[in-house]
Amino acid sequence: MTLSKNEVHKLKLAPVVEGVLPIFHHRWSARAFSDREVSHADLAKVFEAARWAASSNNEQPWRFLFGFRNSSTYNKIHSALVGFNQTWAGAAPVLILGVAGTKFTANGNPNGYAFYDLGAASSYLTLEAAALGLSTHQMAGYDHDAARRELEIPEDYVLGSVIALGYQGEPAALANQQLLDRELAPRQRKPLSELVFSAWGEPADLG
Ligand SMILES: Cc1cc2nc3c(=O)[nH]c(=O)nc-3n(C[C@H](O)[C@H](O)[C@H](O)COP(=O)(O)O)c2cc1C
Repeated sequence: MTLSKNEVHKLKLAPVVEGVLPIFHHRWSARAFSDREVSHADLAKVFEAARWAASSNNEQPWRFLFGFRNSSTYNKIHSALVGFNQTWAGAAPVLILGVAGTKFTANGNPNGYAFYDLGAASSYLTLEAAALGLSTHQMAGYDHDAARRELEIPEDYVLGSVIALGYQGEPAALANQQLLDRELAPRQRKPLSELVFSAWGEPADLG
């Protein structure tokens, strides 16, 4: 017998740290999605959150293409996914592809921070989704050339992640044991001492 979706959600929550916004601890990447549809109103909210990310020169280089299941855009994104991702992501009611324009609109100069800004906007998107009770799961595992060709993405846009979005589903519905094991695996993070320095390689004293 496996765990219920509520039990899995609890298992995935990061430990509470006083003063850190709870949403950062609540977001995790599910692979089991339920059939429940996502409303246009909620989708608009997740894209609205992404819209307010900071960006270099306020270029806002991100663009998001999305499709609901059975739409042509959804099918094109799904068919570009690598086999492993296809086995679970097709259960998500929405698939999104994030891309970023690599040139500044004003003068055509290269924007070296476009990909960085897309990442920031994508993070906002996933956090807003979590606040609405939605699950997201980003994927780099897809055929970028196929996605660019099928979705007619211009050459001066770089491709970011595909994001599966929907409501968390029962883990028992996952197609195989490998997926189930990953769904139940505890989330892990490096300690702050490996991530934050006061001089290169020297862990900062954060009290
Ligand atoms: C840019 C990016 C690419 C990822 N690619 C994949 C992927 O192709 N397949 C997959 O199953 N998970 C993928 N993930 C999910 C990560 O494995 C996951 O975010 C990480 O293990 C941390 O888990 P958490 O999101 O639950 O905290 C990706 C995540 C990011 C941000």
